[in-house]
Amino acid sequence: MKLLAAAAGLILAARAAASPAQHPFLAHHDVLPAFFDTGFPAARNATPSLVSNAKWSKIETMAALPNYQLRIKQPKLCAENTTQYSGYLDTDEDRHFFFWFFEARKAKREDAPIVLWMNGGPGCSSFTGLLMELGPCRVEEGGKTTSTNEFAWNDQAHVIFLDQPLNVGYSYGKDVFNSMAAGKDVYSFLQLFYHSFPEYSRSELHVFGESYGGHYVPATAKAIHEGNLAFSAKQEAGLLSAAEHEKRVLPLTSIGIGNGLSDALTQYKYYSTMACNSTYPPVLKQEQCDEMDRSYPTCARLINACYKWQNVLACYPAMMYCNSMLMKFQESGTNPYDVRIPCTGGNLCYPIMADIDAYLNNPDVQAELGSDVKEFTSCSQKVYSGFMLSGDWMKPYHLEIPPLLEAGIRVLVYAGDADFICNWYGNKAWTEALEWSGRSEFGSEKDADWIVKGKAAGEARTYKNFSFVRIFGAGHMAPYDQGQNLLDMLNRWIHKKAFY
Ligand SMILES: *[C@@H]1O[C@H](CO)[C@@H](O)[C@H](O)[C@H]1NC(C)=O
Ligand SMILES: *[C@@H]1O[C@H](CO)[C@@H](O)[C@H](O)[C@H]1NC(C)=O
Ligand SMILES: *[C@@H]1O[C@H](CO)[C@@H](O)[C@H](O)[C@H]1NC(C)=O
Repeated sequence: MKLLAAAAGLILAARAAASPAQHPFLAHHDVLPAFFDTGFPAARNATPSLVSNAKWSKIETMAALPNYQLRIKQPKLCAENTTQYSGYLDTDEDRHFFFWFFEARKAKREDAPIVLWMNGGPGCSSFTGLLMELGPCRVEEGGKTTSTNEFAWNDQAHVIFLDQPLNVGYSYGKDVFNSMAAGKDVYSFLQLFYHSFPEYSRSELHVFGESYGGHYVPATAKAIHEGNLAFSAKQEAGLLSAAEHEKRVLPLTSIGIGNGLSDALTQYKYYSTMACNSTYPPVLKQEQCDEMDRSYPTCARLINACYKWQNVLACYPAMMYCNSMLMKFQESGTNPYDVRIPCTGGNLCYPIMADIDAYLNNPDVQAELGSDVKEFTSCSQKVYSGFMLSGDWMKPYHLEIPPLLEAGIRVLVYAGDADFICNWYGNKAWTEALEWSGRSEFGSEKDADWIVKGKAAGEARTYKNFSFVRIFGAGHMAPYDQGQNLLDMLNRWIHKKAFY
């Protein structure tokens, strides 16, 4: 989930950029204090050898990754009759990534694929997705208990929820503020995960994410794909060391991006459409949308510079200027993740977020899961600010997708049609604009109804291994709003069944 924009960060950034637009870097005064305030509990020196090992049921290592280990527990929470694991991937550079894994409910252990799920933010925990959207349980009001989610994604698939980048959720250690570096960490995590659980060694891998996951997913898939190519080349040349034989070609089969931000240049053009002329009643006045349209050419010029140089000097001003276009929406009081409802329950606009915080701050829950972190926050302001300042926001992560498609890795882009912040218009537009060998055929493909239980759940278009799905009646967190339909989407996708 969540939040691209709403969190206080955007408001700060936007306000700073909006007033003295000629001095975008003034914003530093607003943003830097949050950035340097190490309100985070950690930066603790928890190198593997120092961590108390008593609570873990096993600790896995592999010779091919000498500086990594996986600490594993078998918690009994959330889904009492489902095999589950939680724990940390540790590296010797003081990096500790937390994960929570659930086996498929209705498929054979050896056959079910693995879905890796990452929420966005940047800085939001994937456990928000677990406890609100697609995990086997949903948090109850007040955050003391959970109830079963019958449309959980671990229906036909095993699902791993991973807290990344570092210092998100229960993960902790050194900071990483760019999606590419984060993707490499996920590659190592998966190597060790497949190594530690041979019972899943045949499981195909699907990497899914939401929102800022539109960055993480392509970056992670690139790291996996390139890691696989390098491994295969070395293997074929007979150059693998004895230890390296433990590594494997990770069975990356597909990626999925839900209400993501991947191609800002295309996507920022459609905010006015979503605000004034969507399939839902308008949120802003036409003159406010006209103003957004007048700002877009400057925004586009700045994003183009970011795409060209891909450095902070070019990318940071683009983010500041373009996000200031969204101020009017922020002020409207409408939920930027769902134009049908008001923003209630604080920054993140959903009261259930406070319940998730309460649940994951419960010391009993933390002990059962094995968290080393005592203070859980759904979305880390520090990580959010760090990504903003690093210039990562506007970078062209969609460009990582064509090599995947050409290599036979399937790509699904889907979007709930009531979301403003990563709206379906912008997402559909970038899938049509994407330069790959099937571009013109994808562009001329018709949108067809995708039917679930006799009713149109949305529209879909597919050409070869590339699909775009628009989901009716869903906001940014589409599985929260349309659980049954999203499960249908996932199950069709992993079983290679068509949407229409
Ligand atoms: C788990 O299994 C036990 C024994 O079969 C059953 O009584 C219980 O209701 C199950 N719990 C859930 C949440 O399905
Ligand atoms: C609103 O959308 C409709 C249908 O997509 C389009 O025909 C119309 O030109 C749009 N109006 C404005 C003011 O952009
Ligand atoms: C589509 O993906 C499958 C793997 O699922 C692959 O075998 C096939 O070659 C791909 N097709 C194209 C046209 O890339």
